[in-house]
Amino acid sequence: MVKNKKNNMTQKTHIIANWKMQLSNQEATDLAVALSRETKSSVQKQIEIILCPSFTALVQVSAIIGGDSSPDFRRGQNDIRLQLGAQNIFYHDKGAYTGEISPLQLKELKVKYAIIGHSERRQFLNENDHDVNLKIKACLLNSLTPIMCIGETFEERRLGKTAVALIRQLTRGLEDVKLENDQKLIIAYEPVWVIGRGQAVDPEEALQAAQIIKRVLLDFFTPEIIANNITIIYGGSVDAGNVKNFVVPGLLEGVLVGSASLIFEKFSKIIDVLK
Ligand code: PGA
Repeated sequence: MVKNKKNNMTQKTHIIANWKMQLSNQEATDLAVALSRETKSSVQKQIEIILCPSFTALVQVSAIIGGDSSPDFRRGQNDIRLQLGAQNIFYHDKGAYTGEISPLQLKELKVKYAIIGHSERRQFLNENDHDVNLKIKACLLNSLTPIMCIGETFEERRLGKTAVALIRQLTRGLEDVKLENDQKLIIAYEPVWVIGRGQAVDPEEALQAAQIIKRVLLDFFTPEIIANNITIIYGGSVDAGNVKNFVVPGLLEGVLVGSASLIFEKFSKIIDVLK
């Protein structure tokens, strides 16, 4: 088992599959079936694979992966666990909000995670840091783990404002957010300009961003909470060839994968590299 030096806990790697609006319900179901077979082989460390299909496919994918941790994982023979995530969430539990999906409805389907503030939602659907903040709080209130996406645009990077962008998104998105006991938060650093481009960022830049994020987090949480309850991951054109560069224990502890998670062969190669 790989131990996390900081808190002596077994290191867990998160691999998030963001299927966006790319698959039919049938395709999502088929992919989930193939992945649930794939994850039967034993590994040396804990890997949590979080499948994030469209809302319309959550019921089927939930039935396939069983919602809760797989039995093999609990027996300790297999340290890969498949979990269910949503690509978005609304911040009220119930009410007259046509077209929205509440945390309670997601929990009924055994959803455990929700992606929040993805750059595509910020860009095309006007999601802002205040929405992100409300959605993070709604997740935590309902025992869901938020996957908070932050990252600079190409223009911000060109102007040398990467740190400013990250600090702004974190400061507004985490306002009054408290993490207690076993409440978790995942922060996905996703440079907007490399998403869906087939060319990831220089790993050194991702590590620098992770260090900035860690420093900002100290304004909000104790070092213990940061070590035990918060995970930072990288996203943006991750594939089997580059994924190893983006998983650095104690700093970047997983990946958010878009394009390469849509094809079984490509995604299972990423899992293999991280096993
Ligand atoms: P990509 O997508 O892997 O296709 O760049 C990542 C994401 O959108 O989070």
